[in-house]
Amino acid sequence: MKKIITIDGPSGAGKGTLTQLVADKLGWHILDSGALYRILGVATEQAGIDLSVDFLSETSKNTITDTITETITELARHLDVEFQLNPDSGEVEPFLKGVNLAKQIRTDEAGQSASKVAAIPSVRDALLARQRDFDQAPGLVADGRDMGTVVFCDAPVKIFLTASAECRAKRRYQQLINKGVGANMRALLESIQARDERDRTRSVAPLIPAVDAFVVDSSDLTIDQVLAQVIDFTSEKLPEILLE
Ligand code: DC
Repeated sequence: MKKIITIDGPSGAGKGTLTQLVADKLGWHILDSGALYRILGVATEQAGIDLSVDFLSETSKNTITDTITETITELARHLDVEFQLNPDSGEVEPFLKGVNLAKQIRTDEAGQSASKVAAIPSVRDALLARQRDFDQAPGLVADGRDMGTVVFCDAPVKIFLTASAECRAKRRYQQLINKGVGANMRALLESIQARDERDRTRSVAPLIPAVDAFVVDSSDLTIDQVLAQVIDFTSEKLPEILLE
């Protein structure tokens, strides 16, 4: 039996926090697949590619948009990315060509860029093997949009964590205010809705729960309540691991 727990869901549902808590509890590795797409977004912009060009819709397809998607796919194939544990914070940080991008990839703009490059089918193919390489002993908690439906479709435990768009926008607003950063609730909600729409309607690996996923709506739950539900579900599916 594979030792993989997949945690999929829309942005801002709390997947990152849940992934960290579950991985800490089990002593397992983490795959933050969104970070890979975010880094690719940064690499794309560094290569001078303008992601505001509509290269995704069928109607705008032409030789220029074809060249853009091919260039981004090449970048994905050769992405010089590494994840390293920061012993001070206990967090795994991403490096692109040796440069730490932990902060840079966490902005809303980086999320939008990631969502755009992630909608290109050949980009998703290019990043598939790299993601599967994270499946290492003693086990893996994989966070993303298609972990349970595509990348690790044979995972024994699949979670789909969701929350209303309003609730996710409010949480993000509070996070930014707590950091002392100005925020606009309406703009945050619109950004979340735009990203949801793109992630849910793309042609490959759209954001949907796997048929065998346990769906948790975190809108009215604390993170401890979510964690308790996920641990209960995991111990039903993999009774041996929590006893180790
Ligand atoms: O989880 P995140 O917010 O860091 O992800 C950023 C974007 O990357 C998200 O809007 C869609 C894309 N993504 C994806 O398509 N597939 C994944 N497995 C993870 C992220």
